[in-house]
Parts: sequence; C-alpha cells; structure tokens
Amino acid sequence: MQTQQQAEWLNDTRRFWDTDSDFEARFRRICSDPDIESCADPQRLEELWEKRTQEELNQLLSGIPLEAEWTCLEIGCGIGRLMRPLAKRCRRLIGVDISPKMVTAAKRYLRGVRNVELHVNDGQSLAMVSEASVDWVYSHLTFQHLTLPEVVDAYLAEIARVLRPGGYCRIQAWREAPLSWEQRLKNVARLVLGRERYHGPRRWLWAPGRSVKFGGITFHPRQWCRLLRSHGLRVESLELGRGHDYWMWSTSRKVV
Ligand SMILES: C[S@@+](CC[C@H](N)C(=O)[O-])C[C@H]1O[C@@H](n2cnc3c(N)ncnc32)[C@H](O)[C@@H]1O
Repeated sequence: MQTQQQAEWLNDTRRFWDTDSDFEARFRRICSDPDIESCADPQRLEELWEKRTQEELNQLLSGIPLEAEWTCLEIGCGIGRLMRPLAKRCRRLIGVDISPKMVTAAKRYLRGVRNVELHVNDGQSLAMVSEASVDWVYSHLTFQHLTLPEVVDAYLAEIARVLRPGGYCRIQAWREAPLSWEQRLKNVARLVLGRERYHGPRRWLWAPGRSVKFGGITFHPRQWCRLLRSHGLRVESLELGRGHDYWMWSTSRKVV
C-alpha cells in the first residue's frame, strides 16, 4: 500500500520530470551540463547529444553479452534515447518511466521502432512485466534521483522478480561523496554522544529554488553491493568514477 509520503513523492517527482517540450527534456533533463546549457547552436547540440549517447551506451554495454534474442528493460527510459540504438540489437525492449510526459515524448522519439513497449509506472514497481521474462534490466541516470530508500529496495525486488535466472542487471547509481574532516568529526561526535549517524550533506540540487531534490540517495560501494546481494543479485563488477565523478556502475546477475 502506498503511504502518504510515497503519494507525495510520486506527485512531486512527476511534476519535476514532466515537461511538454522535447528540447527541455533532451537538453535540460537528460543531457545537461554547462557546455550543453550554454550552447545556442542547434547543430552542435545534436552533435553533443549523439556523442554523449554513444559514450554512455558504450559504458552501459560494458560486460553485457547482449544477444539478439533477448528481452530487455530500461527503468527511467526518459524519451528513449538509449532505447533507440538498443532496439536494433535485441528482440524486445520495454521502457518504463514515472513521468507520463517523458513517455509521451518517447513515443514520438521511437515512432516506427516496432519492438519497443513503453509504460508509465508508479516509480517503484514493474507490475506490467511478468516474472522471469527479462534477460537484461538496465537503468542509467535514474537511480541517482531516487530519494526514498524504500523505492530503491522495491525496484531491486522487482528487478529480481522479472529477471530470468542468470539474467543481467546493470545500474548506474551515485556513490557517497568522500566526507570532509569536519563531517567525519561530526560523525564521531554524534556516535560518541549516541545521536543518529550523520550522513553528510546532499550535494546535488537541480537548481536553486526547485523544491524537489535532484540528487537522491547515495550509497557506499560496499553498501550498494550488499543491497544487490540481499535481493538475490550476485555482483559481477562495480566500476567507480574517479575523483569528483561520483557515479558507480554495477553489473549483477540473478542467482540461478
Ligand atoms: C536523466 S533522465 C535519464 C533518461 C534515460 N535513462 C537516458 O539516459 O537517456 C531520468 C529519467 O528517469 C525518470 N525517473 C525518475 N525517477 C523515476 C522513478 N522512480 N521510476 C521511473 N522513472 C523515473 C525521469 O522521469 C526521467 O525520464
């Protein structure tokens, strides 16, 4: 059952991601960085979009032995940027997204691509997908925005349910930023004083003045691996960004 907090979270999250403008969806919500935001040349924007998509696709596919017969599923598919090239490489590709307007945009972007299916979901379950029917679940630039721990947990349980035994799961998430000395001292002080553990600041905000946080939960790599394992997903690899790149890519497989 949905709690009031989850219902509010669902509304807020949809409001946050929903946009009627394909430009806004592509270059402000999905591919956004200072270079893109300051670029006024439409042709250059298309080039940056293609380049970023290709780079991110390479990273997504790293270590995944994608086969032409596979059924694949993307959580947080946005406008279907990654689905378009991937649809050529598998039999069936399902995309789910919390935002009805992103899904509408995806229907436009993927017009004519026959082996894709798109669904608006409740932001935490995969009710439209049957058990053990998927060979590969992936998620990119989405888990980093999940702000409720129970939503992460619910998704991992759903991923384990829909994957066939031995099926692959590749997720990009954010790892915890290393704590400063001041934060570490506060942690120690709180532990000594018996207070709740201090988790460090949430750093990533979409933009000043927005009420919903852009950045969601971050995980320590060990904590993330433990969580995957607790859902019956055996961790095959974990790649960490360097320095101030706080991304983390995990590949896991459903235990047979
Ligand atoms: C930055 S976009 C990434 C889109 C796509 N994965 C890509 O890389 O092109 C994040 C997407 O995740 C969706 N999203 C955010 N929270 C979600 C949730 N809890 N469940 C499903 N989709 C979610 C947003 O609506 C948005 O379309």
